[in-house]
Amino acid sequence: MLAVIGGSGLTQLANLDITRREVVRTPYGEPSGPLTFGRLAGRELVFIARHGYGHTIPPHRVNYRANISALRSAGVTHIVSVASVGGIRADLGPGALVVPDQIIDYTWGRHSTFFDAHDGQVRHIDFTEPYDAALRERLIEAAALAGETVVDGAVYAATQGPRLETAAEINRYERDGADVVGMTGMPEAALAREAGLAYAALNVVVNHAAGRGDSAHGIRMADIEAMLQEAMVRVRHVLEKVCESGVCR
Ligand code: HPA
Repeated sequence: MLAVIGGSGLTQLANLDITRREVVRTPYGEPSGPLTFGRLAGRELVFIARHGYGHTIPPHRVNYRANISALRSAGVTHIVSVASVGGIRADLGPGALVVPDQIIDYTWGRHSTFFDAHDGQVRHIDFTEPYDAALRERLIEAAALAGETVVDGAVYAATQGPRLETAAEINRYERDGADVVGMTGMPEAALAREAGLAYAALNVVVNHAAGRGDSAHGIRMADIEAMLQEAMVRVRHVLEKVCESGVCR
């Protein structure tokens, strides 16, 4: 079964026919909210709002472990993560949809693993390719079916937040090879891999990163908000096509 983790601007899926909501408890504490089960394009899907249904949980306080654990225990096999980002690369301006293929993790102090060796076992995952290749392909195909252009491949820089970056930090991330910047991509992707779940991300560029383009002298939250609303309509269409393509049950 497919799960969608909705980020800022996507606290619900308007086109989801909701069948039930389930409060799930996990050994890692509370997920961001109840899991919402429903049908999209006639197929079953689970939705969770990463920041809570009222958008009350900032990126550094999201219980990523509980979210992934809850989805897994609900029978989820595939996760599409929707998250807004700032565009660093010149061609990734507001409104661009991106399916990233790499991650650099700059976050700190988050509970970032299930493999804490509480059972005496030391485990490692391979994370060379952090996103599931087949699910990425499905997302890209679904976007084409929805008539949306998506950028195939980008390096996602995961920052701690909740503040936005300085211009110098963005310059540094670019030198490191990053193309987009967001606050929630990690440890979510790594936890999904540890849990054995196929995971891919659909990033929505909602602003030029700090110091770039029309963010040269600052970023206006109102502009981000306006772009989020507009872009999420397109994201919902892409998700419908992902369901039609058969990832959902
Ligand atoms: N930086 C970090 N996270 C973000 C941004 C940004 O510019 N825009 C949306 N999420």
